[in-house]
Amino acid sequence: MDIINEVGATAFFVSSIRAMEKEQEHKLFHDPYAAWFVNEEIEKKVQEQIEVFPPAKELVRYRVCAMSEIIERGIADGVKQIVSLGAGFDMRAHIYQTEGVRFCDVDQPAVLRFKNKVLEAGGVTPCAGIECNYLEVDLPGELGRAGFDLEAPILLIWEGNTMYLPLDLIHDFLSRLRAQVPNMTLAFDYLSEKVINRTSGDERISEFTDLFESNFGVKWVTGFDDLSVLTEKHGLEVVKSESLLEVGERRAPESAAAIEEFMDVTADLLKLYSYSVFRAA
Ligand SMILES: C[S@@+](CC[C@H](N)C(=O)[O-])C[C@H]1O[C@@H](n2cnc3c(N)ncnc32)[C@H](O)[C@@H]1O
Repeated sequence: MDIINEVGATAFFVSSIRAMEKEQEHKLFHDPYAAWFVNEEIEKKVQEQIEVFPPAKELVRYRVCAMSEIIERGIADGVKQIVSLGAGFDMRAHIYQTEGVRFCDVDQPAVLRFKNKVLEAGGVTPCAGIECNYLEVDLPGELGRAGFDLEAPILLIWEGNTMYLPLDLIHDFLSRLRAQVPNMTLAFDYLSEKVINRTSGDERISEFTDLFESNFGVKWVTGFDDLSVLTEKHGLEVVKSESLLEVGERRAPESAAAIEEFMDVTADLLKLYSYSVFRAA
């Protein structure tokens, strides 16, 4: 983990939770590669996090499930270009490999190089990748150079990223995407500002957030309670929106019911962690 900076190290957290899916009786997804990106140090941190707030693990499971559904739907609808922004150790390019569909991972150089090394050691050819800080480069230009047709539909999966990014940089990034990728569908998850501000009403959520920030040396800086700050400014419309707990209710009802029982009644988890899918208005 030392070779990757703090934000990059959070990719191990998600991989570790994805790797646990094989132990679930009712599996929400299948990722045979996740365990390749797990080590003892990270497992210990993940266990600590789950002990403080067990629903966190379930919410990440629902998130993986929701983003995978969006990819499945996109491919079924004929999308031929899929980009994972801040891809970390997401292996959907392999899991959903489909003739005629081009995938690309975008992440920091250290993350993608580490990922590629692990994959190559396992005899797996990595998918195309753009090594960069996507907030600092001309990402549409990079995608064009990587062979993407910017005029054709592109599905961008931006999973587990927005909370780490200052709002003004999110706006700049979305402006660049909107200006150059007219046919984009963008899906991302986001926390409520109440989680960021520690005002959720459930102390265990604040404890989880504090521990996560100290365990991984990161800060969650941006949350959204009102998406109109994005849709109005960038000419986007929300084509789907769901809280992650709702994903759990429809895909893993028993686990979602257990979360609802566990939660402090004053904390409305339905509004604390969600995802949305956006298109040009
Ligand atoms: C929490 S991980 C999520 C990884 C993956 N999307 C998943 O859900 O498994 C966040 C990832 O986003 C990447 N990331 C965050 N900000 C980035 C930026 N500005 N440029 C490139 N990568 C970024 C980090 O390096 C890290 O791999």
